[in-house]
Amino acid sequence: MLGLLTADSRSTPPGPEGSDVARKLFDLNRDTFQTFYDLVVEYGDIVRLPFTPRRSMYIVSHPDHIQRVLQDHHTNYQKAVTYDFLRPVVGDGLLTSEGEHWLRQRRLVAPMFHRERIRSFASIVSHATRTMLNEWERRAEHGESIDISAEMARLTLSIAGQVLFNRDIGRESDRIGEALRIMFRDVNYRITSPISIPREVPTAHNRRVQDAIEDLKSIVEDLIQRRRGRADDFDDLLSMLMLAEDEETGEKMGDDQIRDEIMTFLIAGHETTSNALAWTFYLLSLHPENRRMLEDEIDLNLGDEVPSFEALSELTYTDMIFNEATRLYPPAWTIEREPIDDDEIGGYRIPSGSIVVAAPYFVHHNPDVWSNPEGFDPERFAPSADGPDHRYAHFPFGGGPRKCVGADFAVMEYKYILAMVTRRFQLDLVPGQSIDQEANVTLHPEGEMRMSIERRHH
Ligand code: HEM
Repeated sequence: MLGLLTADSRSTPPGPEGSDVARKLFDLNRDTFQTFYDLVVEYGDIVRLPFTPRRSMYIVSHPDHIQRVLQDHHTNYQKAVTYDFLRPVVGDGLLTSEGEHWLRQRRLVAPMFHRERIRSFASIVSHATRTMLNEWERRAEHGESIDISAEMARLTLSIAGQVLFNRDIGRESDRIGEALRIMFRDVNYRITSPISIPREVPTAHNRRVQDAIEDLKSIVEDLIQRRRGRADDFDDLLSMLMLAEDEETGEKMGDDQIRDEIMTFLIAGHETTSNALAWTFYLLSLHPENRRMLEDEIDLNLGDEVPSFEALSELTYTDMIFNEATRLYPPAWTIEREPIDDDEIGGYRIPSGSIVVAAPYFVHHNPDVWSNPEGFDPERFAPSADGPDHRYAHFPFGGGPRKCVGADFAVMEYKYILAMVTRRFQLDLVPGQSIDQEANVTLHPEGEMRMSIERRHH
């Protein structure tokens, strides 16, 4: 038997063949997540799925493979074609750009997310959270339940609005939220369809998506225009983008570039955090023991209802909860790359032009990496725990040079919100709901997630 394993047959990773491919592609279009999941369970750490006649997908779910793609061999990788569908929305912003242009923008943007800047945004987060909690207070008195997904989405969008524009975009928030939803759905459809009707064809669907994109862009362009000609620094991301200068050339960003970066922050920066929070409240409601430990830590460390920025770093159990919730439900559940030249991953040849799916979800749920991977166990992230010693065993923010630029901001925001909510309320899933996940651009609860809210301290 061994003799049959020629170098050639070993060079292509396992995966569906023949008529099974068409079936898988059909499934992929209907339910991307489940199709990937089944392939990974059936074929293992690296799976090949022919996608178009010229291009295959490779789903990789071993930390070593991820490290190769995102970090060790990153110069051989660019963002995969799947990101092209975001380009009409975020243009040449940080998430989608490449090469020199990306590097220049990354250098300009990274300081906006340094610790001191994040500290200055903390009061926006705590104010917005307090406003929400006061509203919950009223609803709790009336025995109303809340849809935690919608609440977190509204909260993080409101925070994003203020961080970006130093004012509540509450009025425009519904318009922005709806436009983002329409766009996300369309991007998902395009990512998973080998053949899709190009955006330029004026179908009713395409027109609706186009209108949503135009609407978003015009809101942002109006905000930039209003700011131009005013010298003041508003201490928000928009001002920072307008004032940032390239160290070498002294060049500033043009309006189009600023718009693209703002659209990028809106797309990359609010749904991800709100999903992490919604899943966290879900998990805590299922695991009251862990919730009690979280409450103890928060009650002990945060006498006042509004934590100080410094106090956040004392909250180690809260960090463990963040890590475990994002292990089980990584909001960015896949990251895709395209090899520029042929590469080799795990002994297999990966041709240039392929789509490599480096999926946090599948690494985080890999039984060879994590024991009891489906179980909720924050202790595995305790400082003393001896979990897997691999930096790509848990990587909700990606890695290498393209790692999430907003990661520290996101963690600060998450911890503030989780701590402030937990200090005041106990949230429990309203019984009788079946909670399913929906995985398109992000991994989020499907539909509503209703929770009862009860005041903890009277
Ligand atoms: C829990 C919340 C978040 C998660 C899970 C998350 C996840 C990610 C991941 C996985 C990437 C890498 C994508 C890739 O390599 O292709 C990324 C990139 C990025 N994220 Fe986040 N993100 C979060 C919050 C944020 C926030 C709050 C912001 C901004 C305000 C943000 C802005 C960005 C940007 C601009 C990039 C592109 C960076 C680059 O390519 O240089 N993200 N994020």
